[in-house]
Amino acid sequence: MNAPAYPAPRPAVPGPDRGTFLRDVVEGLGYPQKTIPAKYFYDLEGSRLFDEITRLPEYYPTRTELSILRRYGTEVMAEVPAGSAVVEFGAGSTEKIRVLLEALPDVAAYVPVDVSGDFLEAQADALRADRPGLRVVPVVGDFTREMTLPPEVAGLPLLGFFPGSTIGNFEPATARSLLTRFRDLLGPGALLVLGVDLVKDDAVLNAAYDDAAGVTARFNLNLLARINRELGADFLLERFRHKAFFNRSRSRIEMHLESLSAQTVRIGDHVVQFAPGETIHTENSYKYTPARFEALASEAGWTVRRVLTDDGRRFAMFVLRA
Ligand code: SAH
Ligand code: AVI
Repeated sequence: MNAPAYPAPRPAVPGPDRGTFLRDVVEGLGYPQKTIPAKYFYDLEGSRLFDEITRLPEYYPTRTELSILRRYGTEVMAEVPAGSAVVEFGAGSTEKIRVLLEALPDVAAYVPVDVSGDFLEAQADALRADRPGLRVVPVVGDFTREMTLPPEVAGLPLLGFFPGSTIGNFEPATARSLLTRFRDLLGPGALLVLGVDLVKDDAVLNAAYDDAAGVTARFNLNLLARINRELGADFLLERFRHKAFFNRSRSRIEMHLESLSAQTVRIGDHVVQFAPGETIHTENSYKYTPARFEALASEAGWTVRRVLTDDGRRFAMFVLRA
């Protein structure tokens, strides 16, 4: 037989351990308010859909944060020693690190950390191809758990980068402990540049999470498709609908999947019942005032050096020092 004319596909990066995924899903669907941890959005398809979200006209956070980075990047990065390593938490696409690197040309290594392994590896390959001098050392894993940095960055000064307002996807108390852990990981004197979405009009927020083209709906429903694919469940996607709204009293966007009828779903040996109108709570996206986030960062042991916002005060970049 002739050898194939194309290279053999690289082995897929292992996703979350199947047993842990199954346990988390079954546990979450057993609560009175059914829920599934938001990190499970991000398989390869989920990461691609999120990337599509970032380009939607209604989804202002990405382009607003990029504009802040372009405007203040050089000024902020002047504080970072040459030869530093950048550690990005929840890296996703390389769009933002590329802008940051324009302001910080003397970086020795880049460590993107993400649960979405296949997407992370593909993004890392693309960056290596474009910047052959840069050491790119991806770490596939959950940054809320025990995390060790790769030996390649041992002894280098570290810059933490946590853009996108991913911090908003955690309960404020969890966000605080996460920031404390990042401080311990990065070490004394390290800088952390972090993006935070700000409180604003309901209409702007609601549109950003319920876009006219239905991409956010597909992103939300992909969670059920992923459970079907990886856990052998039998969710009928057409029997659920995407629902997103700003809960002002809790200062958060809530995303849910609403059951359109009474139905029974099987996940392996487990059976889950849904009443009509019952929802699975799939994500929170907390929105802060600059003062509220400053307080949270200080409680986590960081000193706030700068708070940079766009002219419309839609989004903020915090520059923190450990
Ligand atoms: N930094 C990018 C992507 C934000 S999307 C931006 O600013 O646009 C959130 C990213 O965080 C996704 O790529 C997702 O896979 C990753 N992520 C979410 N929860 C995570 C966790 N607990 N551990 C590691 N990565 C996580
Ligand atoms: C990754 N995270 C900050 C996004 C957000 O805005 O909360 C995830 C997202 N969910 C729906 N749209 C975007």
